[in-house]
Amino acid sequence: MSTLPEPQRPAPADAPSETAAPRRARVVLLFGGRSGEHVISCATAAGVMRAIDRDRFDVVPIGISRSGQWVLAADDPDHWAITEGHLPEVVADDSEVLLPMAVGQSALRELVPGELPAILGDVDVVFPLLHGPFGEDGTLQGMLELADVRYVGAGVLASAVGMDKHFMKLVLAGQGLPIAPFTVIRPGEWDTNPKAWTESIANLGLPVFVKPARAGSSLGISKVSDLADLPAAIAEARKHDPKVIVEAGVVGREIECAVLGGRAGQRPRASLPGEIEVTDTGHDFYTFEAKYLDEASVVLSCPADLSPEIIAEVQDVAVRTFEAVAAEGLSRVDVFVTTSGKVIVNEINTMPGFTPFSMYPRMWEKSGLGYSDLITELIDLALERPTGLR
Ligand SMILES: Nc1ncnc2c1ncn2[C@@H]1O[C@H](COP(=O)(O)OP(=O)(O)O)[C@@H](O)[C@H]1O
Ligand SMILES: [Mg+2]
Repeated sequence: MSTLPEPQRPAPADAPSETAAPRRARVVLLFGGRSGEHVISCATAAGVMRAIDRDRFDVVPIGISRSGQWVLAADDPDHWAITEGHLPEVVADDSEVLLPMAVGQSALRELVPGELPAILGDVDVVFPLLHGPFGEDGTLQGMLELADVRYVGAGVLASAVGMDKHFMKLVLAGQGLPIAPFTVIRPGEWDTNPKAWTESIANLGLPVFVKPARAGSSLGISKVSDLADLPAAIAEARKHDPKVIVEAGVVGREIECAVLGGRAGQRPRASLPGEIEVTDTGHDFYTFEAKYLDEASVVLSCPADLSPEIIAEVQDVAVRTFEAVAAEGLSRVDVFVTTSGKVIVNEINTMPGFTPFSMYPRMWEKSGLGYSDLITELIDLALERPTGLR
């Protein structure tokens, strides 16, 4: 376990002068957080700290502890990387970093007990490198909107819709996008009449996938091939969310497509698609274990070996999905491609995995946009976009 390096306090912004060159945009990298994906978020921060263009941007790393405390963090990619025997974690001390909290303020402040509040300079843009609840679900985005601070990625509504598989499906279906049939079990409903629910779920055809409506990383998801296993699967999903969604299983290849927001009113851009193949029969589908603990069981190929027609169809569906939920900045759209070549949307992730080894940056790399340039593009998109109604 390495010791925590000291965070560097950013130099205060230069006093404005007629001759001074414009100062670099100050970017807050926000990572860690309260969700189960804390460690992954730290690893993402390591990747971004290493690759961000320091000639263009001043970096202020802010970690959020598992308990939700915001602290100034070390600008040290090695510390935040996942290595053998070291799982990075934001550890809170008794200091606290405050973002600007009202329109017209842009100074970042640090509170240390017994000291006067320190001004850490103005924030131009926040890059939330956070996955899951309290980061990717619109809550953080709402806070940044209230404070009038620009940020990378989807806004409040798109973040919330992307996080909630139930509303995501309603929005996609409402705009004619292909999705698998599903049913939703709201809190308390299952217990009122499990028999009737079982019958209605049987109508979807087996297998079904039982999922917490608002989770990620495959947490709480079960594939159910025998109706007798349904109660246990629902109980498992409910550990993560009182609202449960049950979907008809789709037989098809798992294909992903990276979408980047369009510049100045242009349509979003789609990358070459990639493919996820779970090769180890020990994993029934792309489970949490296959994603993070047994990576040898999964082959990620990019670009996916698909015909030009299917590639065009995947890209079209991905862009329309991005537009349907009104996403901004970046999203990864995950689809199934059936043997007959039909493209069915599984989900949209408004803050997809973003380490240099994650599918989203890899798909852009293969499409001609490297990791550093991708980070610059995302920050530039955020800088050109106003907060508020747009
Ligand atoms: N309807 C479905 N048909 C077939 N496989 C599915 C279906 N839904 C989910 N899966 C499998 O479960 C995995 C995780 O489901 P997903 O909805 O993507 O949840 P998460 O948001 O946790 O990633 C998918 O990558 C896929 O392997
Ligand atoms: Mg998924």
